[in-house]
Amino acid sequence: MAEIEIYPGVEPLAQAVAEKIVSLASAAIMMRGKFSIALSGGKTPPPLYRLLATGPFLKRIDWKHVHVFWSDERCVPPDHPDSNYRMARETLLDRVPLPSGNIYRMRGELKPSAAATDYEQTLRLFFDQQITFDLHLLGIGTDGHTASLYPGTTALKEEKRWVVANYVEKLNTWRITMSPLALNAAASVIFMVSGQNKAEALREILEGSGNPLQFPAKLIQPQTALWMIDEQAASLLSSQPPGSRRS
Ligand code: 6PG
Repeated sequence: MAEIEIYPGVEPLAQAVAEKIVSLASAAIMMRGKFSIALSGGKTPPPLYRLLATGPFLKRIDWKHVHVFWSDERCVPPDHPDSNYRMARETLLDRVPLPSGNIYRMRGELKPSAAATDYEQTLRLFFDQQITFDLHLLGIGTDGHTASLYPGTTALKEEKRWVVANYVEKLNTWRITMSPLALNAAASVIFMVSGQNKAEALREILEGSGNPLQFPAKLIQPQTALWMIDEQAASLLSSQPPGSRRS
């Protein structure tokens, strides 16, 4: 069952997700000497990323043992306005003492298939063939996509590879994305969702019986998926969704 935490707005939501990341990072570093996190792009994460780079949180994470990956990337160079890497660099990575060797960028400037192969090799090297991220930080689109796993796209059915090039017809563009296999290979997954425009998709994902291929976030079912959402995004959920608590 999905665990759901509902917050009164974007700010308290970002604070709560930042606290969760601090505790997951501390535990992973204590137990295994490193913390591997795959970031998402889009407009939801920046308030969180900026918060992690500020005083109280900045000091509570042992950044030299943090390893940063991406769940997906647009097929653009790293300095392009649409680049998920660029957004994370500007809001977080340039502001924390993270060694540059701990940043594993999807190379969106390459041919899509080459970028996917390149990143798969990066992951297989880092995880020594047994992929298990400590944390995937994911969002959802209004159409129920997550990472760049869009409804009706071929990546949804990938059963072997961890990273694929995925043509997204509705956007008329290629994306590089981790497959459901890789996104489910995580000790923890946090879905961070805010805004009224996500309410319908969230209701379908958490309470609907629709086809996961039409709402791909349903394909991500790791043992500990935590939905951290604001009240607007939660507005269409049944009054007390099972496994939920309001903060
Ligand atoms: C991306 C993200 C994507 C994002 C959703 C939600 O590359 O855009 O990885 O999966 O999480 O599209 O985006 P917003 O946060 O902008 O609503």
